[in-house]
Amino acid sequence: MRIVHSTRQMRSIAKNLKSKGIRIGFVPTMGALHDGHLSLIEKARKENEIVVVSIFVNPAQFSPREDFKKYPRSLKMDLRLCKKEGVDFIFYPKAADMYPQGYKTFVSVETLSGYLCGKSRPGHFRGVTTVVLKLFNIVQPDIAYFGQKDTQQAIIIKKMVSDLNIPVKIKVMPIVREKGGLAMSSRNAYLNKPRRKDALVLYAALLLGRRLIKKGVSSASRIIKEMKELIKTKRNAKIDYICIVDPESLRPQERIKKGCLIALAVWIGKTRLIDNIIVRG
Ligand code: PAJ
Repeated sequence: MRIVHSTRQMRSIAKNLKSKGIRIGFVPTMGALHDGHLSLIEKARKENEIVVVSIFVNPAQFSPREDFKKYPRSLKMDLRLCKKEGVDFIFYPKAADMYPQGYKTFVSVETLSGYLCGKSRPGHFRGVTTVVLKLFNIVQPDIAYFGQKDTQQAIIIKKMVSDLNIPVKIKVMPIVREKGGLAMSSRNAYLNKPRRKDALVLYAALLLGRRLIKKGVSSASRIIKEMKELIKTKRNAKIDYICIVDPESLRPQERIKKGCLIALAVWIGKTRLIDNIIVRG
């Protein structure tokens, strides 16, 4: 496994591989790797000759009030895990190389970036699409792997790839959960034991929503109301949003007809967690 720091070097490695017709699978991450990330890496390993994992805590996707500085970083452990998974290249650039002084160009996917997390994190998805496009240009992957955990992110990236004719296939993998149902996330590291227990309410609320739909309740506002009540039983939980939307357009649905996506963001103490579930019609 080789660690590459320079964007120029990574590009030239990728160019060389491509010229030989070698298939590159790519998993972009911000590090602090857990089983959710590893599920993407394993899939990439199965489907490609070469696997590149990027580790880059992207400053452009954090607002000044957010947790960029304290975002968990565990490079040594990450490298160990990647080596075990048979990763070929780690791309680990410096912020100054990705965004040199005078950097001016951003790409943003309109409308889709404004729903759900876009409301409480303005500018977040602009930072994500910008870095992902840069990473695609540097790594030149055939297939890139993303998690359903960040479903809005995956949808926005698919839209960017299609709108900008980017020659990469996007694959979205299911959410990996801990035993109690908590979706794995690097930010779970912020939770102490009692808060971790409180955090189980996110998935419990999603399951409640799904149960109600399966029982025939079709009013989104009624379902959301019941989910809110459940979450409010946890004193340390504060709801950012609960939305029932079309799984592709992310447009809110009031009458649930076919399938839908239930997505939520909840503060558990000082930690903002997201989760979602797809309910098939
Ligand atoms: P990060 O949060 O590190 O996540 C990297 C990838 O792992 C994302 O595609 C995310 O959806 C996926 N992932 C995280 N938790 C998961 C889980 N429990 N199950 C399955 N997949 C999971 O998402 C980012 O980084 C950044 O925004 C990035 C795309 C790297 C751009 O900076």
